[in-house]
Amino acid sequence: MMDRPEWFGDFCVETAPTPAVVVLFGAGGDLAKRKLFPSLYQLFCAGLLHRDSRIACCLRSGEGFREKIRAGLPEDGGDREAFLDLLDLVTGDYRKPEFFQGLKEYLHAMDHRQGIKPCNRLFYLAVPPDACAGTVEALSHAGLLEESGSGAPWSHVILEKPFGKDLQSSLELDRLLHCYLREDQIYRIDHYLGKETVQNIAILRFANTIFEPLWNNRYIDHVQITIAEDLGVEHRAGYYEQSGLVRDMFQNHLLEMLSLAAMEMPDTFTADAVRDEQRKVIDAIRRYDAAEWVANCVRGQYIAGNGMAGYREEPGVSAGSMVETYAAARLFVDNPRWAGVPFYIRSGKRLPARQSEIAIVFKRIAHSVFAPVPAEAITGDTLVMHVQPEEGMDLTIQAKHPGPRLCMGPMTLHFHYSELAKTTEVTEAYARLLLDGMLGDPTLFMRSDLITSGWELFTPLLQLWEKDPAKMPLCFYPAGSEGPAESAQLLLRDGREWRPIRQG
Ligand code: BG6
Repeated sequence: MMDRPEWFGDFCVETAPTPAVVVLFGAGGDLAKRKLFPSLYQLFCAGLLHRDSRIACCLRSGEGFREKIRAGLPEDGGDREAFLDLLDLVTGDYRKPEFFQGLKEYLHAMDHRQGIKPCNRLFYLAVPPDACAGTVEALSHAGLLEESGSGAPWSHVILEKPFGKDLQSSLELDRLLHCYLREDQIYRIDHYLGKETVQNIAILRFANTIFEPLWNNRYIDHVQITIAEDLGVEHRAGYYEQSGLVRDMFQNHLLEMLSLAAMEMPDTFTADAVRDEQRKVIDAIRRYDAAEWVANCVRGQYIAGNGMAGYREEPGVSAGSMVETYAAARLFVDNPRWAGVPFYIRSGKRLPARQSEIAIVFKRIAHSVFAPVPAEAITGDTLVMHVQPEEGMDLTIQAKHPGPRLCMGPMTLHFHYSELAKTTEVTEAYARLLLDGMLGDPTLFMRSDLITSGWELFTPLLQLWEKDPAKMPLCFYPAGSEGPAESAQLLLRDGREWRPIRQG
C-alpha cells in the first residue's frame, strides 16, 4: 500500500453530486439493463447517487420492467429496493410529440417537490442512432434543454455512439445537435475512457519522470494497440451489419487509446486542455489515399471454426455479408515525437480471448557488450498497459538468469490494479462516466472535433471498401483464431510480430 502525505487524501475521495434527475431514454433496452442500471446502482451503493435524485425511465411499456431491472442488479452489498424506489416510469412512444408533453409535466413536478430545489437534468439517450437527433429536437421544442443561467440547474445530454457513419453524416449530426445544444451540453460517451487503465495512461506518463524522456522515436520501436474480443456479434447483427469493425471500434475506442498514449503533455489536466492535445495527435495521423490504405490495412471476417459458427451464419447476418469483423492497420503519427514509429492497431470479434492492451515496444540496444551475444539477440523492452480483462501493467526488461555469466533473458515486472487497496466503489466504466456526467465534468467524454478528425482519417478507407471492394479483399479467419494471416504479414514485412492473444 502506498504512503501518501495527508493533503493527498482529498484527491482520492469521490465527489458526490448534488441531486439530479437522470432521464433515461431507451430504459427498456439492452444497454440500460446490462450497463446503465447496474452502474447507477453501483453509484447508489457508494453514496454517489443523491437520495433526492430520480431516474426517469422512458420506455414504451412498464410491464415487468422493475422485475427485469432488479434481476440485473447484484444481490448482495446494497439495498436494491431503495434503489428501485428512485425509478419513475415515463411510458409512451418518444417518437411522438405527446410523449414529451408527459415528460415535461413529470419534470415540472420534479422541480416542485416539497423541500427540494429544482435540480440538474441529465438526459441519457440510449436510443438507436436514427432516433438521436429527433429526440434532442423534441426535448428542445418542449423547452427541456433550456438553462436559466449561471448557478441555475443545467441540462446535459449524454449520447451513445455511433456519431454518424462517416465524415459527412457525423458533420450533419453535429450540425443538428448544435441547433439545440451548446457543445458544453453534449456528452458523447466512449466507455473506454471510463476504464481505469485508459485513465492511467496520463498519470503514468506525466506524474513520473522515468517514462516520458523515453516516450519518443529515439527509444520506441513501435506501438501495438489491441482490442480483442472472444465474443461474436451476438444478438447485434442489425447494428453490426450497418457498422462493421472500423466504425464500431477503430474510429472511437482505438483512436482514444492511441491519442492518450501519443499526446503531448497538456498544460493542465482539464477537459479542454487534454482534448486539445488528443486532437493534435489524431490530426497528425497520416491521411492515406486508397493505395496507401491497401498497403497498410487488412480487413477480415470470421468463418466457422473451433466449434463456433461463422459471421455469415449468425442470426440476422446476410449470407453474402462483406462486413468486417476484424481490422488491422499500420498508422503513423507525423510529428517530431513520433516520426517513423509505426502504430499497429487491431481489433476483432471471435478471437481467442478478450484482451485489450497498449504495448509500447522499445528499441533494442544498438551494441552488445556481452560478446558473443549479438545486439540482435537481445529483445527490446516492452511496457504493456492492460485495459482488460485484468487492469494493470507489465514491464518486460532484460535480466540475468541465475546461472552462467551471460545467461540473460526477458523478465517481467507485474502490476495489477486488483492488488491495490480500493479508494472507490466506482469500478464499472459506465459508472465513472455517469458520475462525471452528474458532476458536469466532460474530461472523459469525446469532443466533436476529435470525432470529426477520426472520421476524416477513416472515411476514405470505408469509401474504398464500398466503391472498390476488390482492391482490398476480405480475409477470412476461423472463429477462435488470432485473425487473418494477412494481418500477421502486415507486421512480418516490417520484421515485427503481433503480441499473442491468449486466454488467461
Ligand atoms: C462497444 C462495441 O462499443 O464496445 C461492441 O459496440 C464491443 O461491439 C464493445 O463489443 C466492447 O466493449 P468492452 O468494454 O467489452 O471491451
